[in-house]
Amino acid sequence: MPFTTDRVRDPDLLAQIVEVSGDAIFSENLDGQITTWNSAAERLYGCSRRDMMGRAAADLLPEQTALQLRRLHERGLAGEAVERVDTWHQRPDGRHIAVSVTVSPLRDSTGTLVGLATSVQDVTDRVRLTAEIEDVHRTLEKQYAALGRSNRDLEQFAYVASHDLSEPLRVMTGFAQLIEKRYVKTLDETGRRYVFHIVDGAARMRTLIDDLLQYSQFLRSDRTAGRVNTAAVVARVVAGLETASVEVEPLPDVWCDEASLAAAMQNLISNALKFTSPDVPARVVVSAKVDGPQVQIMVDDNGIGIEEEYRERVFGMFSRLHVREAYAGTGIGLAIVQQVAERSDGRAWVEHSPLGGSRFCITLPLPPTTISLDTP
Ligand SMILES: Nc1ncnc2c1ncn2[C@@H]1O[C@H](COP(=O)(O)OP(=O)(O)OP(=O)(O)O)[C@@H](O)[C@H]1O
Ligand SMILES: [Mg+2]
Repeated sequence: MPFTTDRVRDPDLLAQIVEVSGDAIFSENLDGQITTWNSAAERLYGCSRRDMMGRAAADLLPEQTALQLRRLHERGLAGEAVERVDTWHQRPDGRHIAVSVTVSPLRDSTGTLVGLATSVQDVTDRVRLTAEIEDVHRTLEKQYAALGRSNRDLEQFAYVASHDLSEPLRVMTGFAQLIEKRYVKTLDETGRRYVFHIVDGAARMRTLIDDLLQYSQFLRSDRTAGRVNTAAVVARVVAGLETASVEVEPLPDVWCDEASLAAAMQNLISNALKFTSPDVPARVVVSAKVDGPQVQIMVDDNGIGIEEEYRERVFGMFSRLHVREAYAGTGIGLAIVQQVAERSDGRAWVEHSPLGGSRFCITLPLPPTTISLDTP
């Protein structure tokens, strides 16, 4: 059947539309008597159409609900737009529900105001959901703040501990060295060995503290990301190393801060040059590949490699797989590498290298403009 506006104006059809609406819809004349009351209104207010027709809402609805409606009706009659006003109703069973109310004036064909139509939507579920979402937000914010606090505390602790440990250590080292210098003749062989161990232990502790201090300073520093020329940073790092046997492939720019990138690359490349196999000449290759909005930088070596079961552990603070005598170091380098990655929402990991040793990977974001140019 062709669509005509006349059909929409058909009172029967309109009544049917009102009847099937999920919202409670009712109308009143200017004396406040109910003239229509749909099924949804019956369900919402628990009052049947038969009971309501010709009565005033206040006669049968709970006092608070009737009061809420009267206020909105007064606003409607005063010519104010009452559209989706959020308020609450009390149902006859005493339960409170959240509702959204719209009041529209009803006019006859001459334009004279003859009554009001009210549409009431039960929005309790929506309100409950909003409250739940807000609750989740509040919990998350609290957890986030707590995490931030504990991170700051930890950084503060590392800084204070390493800073304050330095002083007594200096005193101990100084006196141990004095004994070594002045009393060397008085001491027998065993005594000299003991003093040597004290001095050696103190020197190691010095390195540990310095590294811890360096790490905590790194954590405390505020760094702003920007476009960094990765190739230039790596070239500078390689130039600063004694061994020049590092092959560098083309490297795209990344979005990071230069000092962090330099620290990460310095640690990865010096590790690759440190953990070499004794029987083959060391080979280190730095390369990169673009993966979506990320750049994956890889440092490959043909060194001693890392057993699969230790590949996660090596990123921990002070975590080392070898005794000091075999390879020097404190075990802080990879912890810094991981921090650099995480600060840029990236990742750092190690896998087996096609060169035979380890392949250390770190992902960092591409600079924003590159993403829009290179990736469709
Ligand atoms: N390229 C590599 N090949 C084999 N093992 C490695 C390699 N890089 C790191 N490792 C292992 O991971 C451990 C942790 O590395 P990390 O850089 O954190 O510490 P480090 O080099 O020993 O000391 P630091 O970096 O503080 O001087 C190393 O001690 C070593 O056992
Ligand atoms: Mg290292």
